[in-house]
Amino acid sequence: MEQTTSAVESSFDRVALRARARRPRRNGARLLVMSNRAPVKIVRENGHERVEPTVGGVGSTFLRLLERHGGLWIAWSGIKDDARRIDKPGSDTQFSMLFPRLTERDVAFYYHGMCNRGLWPLMHFMPLNCRFETAQWDTYRRVNWMFARAAEAEVGSYDVIWVQDFHLALVPQHLCERNPKVPIGLFWHVPWPPEQVFRIFPWRSELLTGMLGSDLIGFHTPAYAKHFLDGCERILNLKVDRETSQVFHDSRTTKVGSFPLGIAADLFSEIASTPESRARARRIRKALRTPIVVLGVDRLDYTKGIIERLLGFERFLEHYPEYRRRITLVLIAVPSRTRVTEYSALKKQVDELVGRVVGRFSSDGWVPIRYLYTQFQMRELIAYYQSADIALVTPLRDGMNMVAKEYVASHPADSAVLILSEFAGAAEELSSALLVNPYNIDQIAERLHQAVEMPMEERRARFAEMRERVHRNDLEAWSQHFLSVLHEQCAIEPDAQLAAQ
Ligand code: G6P
Repeated sequence: MEQTTSAVESSFDRVALRARARRPRRNGARLLVMSNRAPVKIVRENGHERVEPTVGGVGSTFLRLLERHGGLWIAWSGIKDDARRIDKPGSDTQFSMLFPRLTERDVAFYYHGMCNRGLWPLMHFMPLNCRFETAQWDTYRRVNWMFARAAEAEVGSYDVIWVQDFHLALVPQHLCERNPKVPIGLFWHVPWPPEQVFRIFPWRSELLTGMLGSDLIGFHTPAYAKHFLDGCERILNLKVDRETSQVFHDSRTTKVGSFPLGIAADLFSEIASTPESRARARRIRKALRTPIVVLGVDRLDYTKGIIERLLGFERFLEHYPEYRRRITLVLIAVPSRTRVTEYSALKKQVDELVGRVVGRFSSDGWVPIRYLYTQFQMRELIAYYQSADIALVTPLRDGMNMVAKEYVASHPADSAVLILSEFAGAAEELSSALLVNPYNIDQIAERLHQAVEMPMEERRARFAEMRERVHRNDLEAWSQHFLSVLHEQCAIEPDAQLAAQ
């Protein structure tokens, strides 16, 4: 592996070193990342193919890591019946991507079915939205097995495997059974529900056991890690050491921890500070023509509290008529999972609610909401972040919420205000935001009022603190932390400890 001084790499090297200690070195050590989503997806239309960036955190997060230290990424290409390998997919990236083949039925049953209608609402504490079907679970199992087989064919004897998210929960166990010496990390990008909620899952023991093939499982917050440990103890009856946060079982000892995901904060601030970005932000503001701009950005998803945000904004305009014609809400909703019923129903609801508020309050050429149902490129999005005085981030439940962190990293002025749901993982780190319970519509309206009236000094103090946190625990710090704990966990074996020194 190419030697550099980056913190991520040196941590990766340490893990690789421990893996090497167990096995003789043959080729270069690599990081194998496995996720359902890649940073790009292939879109096929009218017989033509194009490559598009994907929406959501996992893709962009690992793109930057693999760009830095190379390796292999195994993921779904985004279309059915497509298996291929792409080397250096970007302009100067140094890694390969391997896309296993998923049939139409796989995509329907594994991705749209089990992942999006079963596990997604379950993990977000929303059992009433869950739809569980045995045929879908069987396909989920098979797709996980297929991903594991693809990794097995690739993994070198001292590589490190890092599995991402709830789509591939059974992969660690498959890998661990056949490659017991390979260090396996699993990062869970979504929340983990309390044990009483998780219990409703018909295949609860199998899911937990699948995950426990990992040496290390990471969650965004200590509460999610605790819920997971509760499940291991009470559902699988396993021995759990709460002090060291370890689960003891037949395959290996698994460490469980909290690793709040960071963003590439420097990249956001650098782009935001360019003259192009500033000019773009000025153009956005000018077009909006109100002194106050509030921004909401999300994938169009029922966990994001978009309806609640709109109701809160409506309530604000009702209670504080003096702010009418002086404020605009820019609502960016990124199309997502459109084939799933709940998502198309939500789209309709959002359209109607936006229409209601616009119809009710618009006057003298002022339109209270600008609604954009589209996906923006990173640079455009940063300009929107920069143009907004207030970000209104109201998920009903969210693993972390990267929008909150991106807003903080992108905003040049300390005068900005972040209103953040107390149910987002990010609320732990960004406790200087104005925290809100998104189920409380009056409170959203009050927080908006507090934000517009907040004295400059208080804004500065709150924002500076958040900026410092976002930069301190950035993407590199996060990955370094995860990989070094993975290293520690694997190095507890005596042979590895000796040789690693
Ligand atoms: C969340 C999940 C990611 C997922 C993203 C977008 O952030 O944690 O794993 O990639 O949503 O959803 P999609 O279904 O389009 O991959």
